[in-house]
Amino acid sequence: MRPVKRSGTTPILLAAAAFTIAACSGESHAIYVDAGCVECHGDNLRGTPSSGPTLKGTRKNWDEEALLLYFRNPDSVATSIPRLSELREIYGEGMPPLKMADPIAREKLARYVLR
Ligand code: HEC
Repeated sequence: MRPVKRSGTTPILLAAAAFTIAACSGESHAIYVDAGCVECHGDNLRGTPSSGPTLKGTRKNWDEEALLLYFRNPDSVATSIPRLSELREIYGEGMPPLKMADPIAREKLARYVLR
């Protein structure tokens, strides 16, 4: 039996994987924009001068589970964490609760800001 020739398939698989990753992060970015996060935290997660802090480095302070709880009720979480209370004072208006029914979309959003 002739050996199966594999060499040609690897680049195609790699290209497909890269495309999938790019498509997924594009979808998560769209969720971030649609949910209105962009208005306060900026298109590139760097924050805006008057409405919200940078989200760069979010994973230093949060894991996915804690973040999902925070999104649901930012008021109750922020008042018990001094760092967040201070951010609230700087920006005046606090982070609003996330109104998003789809749990998968909420998880994608959390992973997007944690990346
Ligand atoms: C009206 C402005 C506003 C909007 C809209 C908003 N945020 Fe925030 N966000 C804030 C402010 C202000 C804080 C500072 C802490 C607080 O208020 O709880 C914050 C804090 C955060 C934090 C914690 C940052 C840290 O340093 O630990 C995360 C994560 C976050 N926001 C994600 C989001 C996501 C995701 C969305 C979209 C669903 C969003 N925010 C929408 C204003 C906003």
